[in-house]
Amino acid sequence: MLCTVIIGDVCVGVSPGSNTGIGKTTAIDLSRRGARVIMACRDKQRAEAAISNNKKVREVLNNEVVFMELDLGSLQSVRSFAETFLKSEYRLNILVNNAGESCIAGMSPVLMVTVASKVHEYGKIDFNCLSTHKDLAVGESDWALFRKYSHSKLCNMLFTHELAKRLEGTNVTCYSLCPGQCFNTAGISSFLWFMMSAPILSLFYMDAESGAQTTHYCALQEGIEPLSGCYFSCCAVQKVNANTKDDAVAKKLWEVSETLCGMS
Ligand SMILES: NC(=O)c1ccc[n+]([C@@H]2O[C@H](COP(=O)([O-])OP(=O)(O)OC[C@H]3O[C@@H](n4cnc5c(N)ncnc54)[C@H](OP(=O)(O)O)[C@@H]3O)[C@@H](O)[C@H]2O)c1
Ligand SMILES: *[C@@H]1O[C@H](CO)[C@@H](O)[C@H](O)[C@H]1NC(C)=O
Repeated sequence: MLCTVIIGDVCVGVSPGSNTGIGKTTAIDLSRRGARVIMACRDKQRAEAAISNNKKVREVLNNEVVFMELDLGSLQSVRSFAETFLKSEYRLNILVNNAGESCIAGMSPVLMVTVASKVHEYGKIDFNCLSTHKDLAVGESDWALFRKYSHSKLCNMLFTHELAKRLEGTNVTCYSLCPGQCFNTAGISSFLWFMMSAPILSLFYMDAESGAQTTHYCALQEGIEPLSGCYFSCCAVQKVNANTKDDAVAKKLWEVSETLCGMS
């Protein structure tokens, strides 16, 4: 495959003996297939260490794995990332929103994959909270953080629904997905460690390689283009609740997001 891919958040689990995450697995897999991979991470050292400290990983990578600084918590960083990208790259074929918050202003990927989660089923969109607090929910307790996480994953679904509508007729497609519950990646740890112990968890959870399979499927599978906007899990399209494809809410969320990002 000859294409350029940006993957947000690929530096996961880089200390010795620690674990790899879904984004890193995706970067390695796409690189092995010949893609030029842009690792969009906020910490250069961690990003490079994730690749170069691992001999097995280094051997399978082509030389086309490039770090570009991106902190999704800062709109300024998102903008300067986009500028750097546009200056140095001449095309973008696949965008993998591994943290589900990346910004694609000014770019035109052929395909966009947003890593959401089944947890979106617990999410709600509170536009009042968004307008008063510029956040999806208030509070810092584990429970509040879990609620925010589920709301943000519902946002990923609505975003993909709206994006697919806006992309109709362009031959550009987008998908959202749930990787499945992966043991040992950071995303689940604080909340679930708190509730259960590791030996029990390991019976139910898969590793990052298995967790990355649906991302790879959506990024690489030919023939799924008519399913643009759909939600995937276990490498198959899934039925979703009506609130994940509510046209009015998706449109409003898009517009509110544009305002919050200073894009309108
Ligand atoms: N693991 C699961 O069981 C599971 C289940 C359902 C859905 N998901 C979804 O799958 C995706 C990947 O999950 P994961 O478990 O592999 O991820 P993860 O272990 O939570 O990794 C998070 C990654 O995001 C990066 N990151 C966090 N905030 C950032 C920011 N502001 N700017 C740039 N990078 C930032 C972190 O980089 P630093 O090293 O710089 O912190 C880290 O590399 C996520 O969207 C997650 O919600 C995961
Ligand atoms: C979409 O792809 C088809 C088939 O390759 C092509 O005929 C059509 O012109 C393309 N449309 C756009 C808007 O690029």
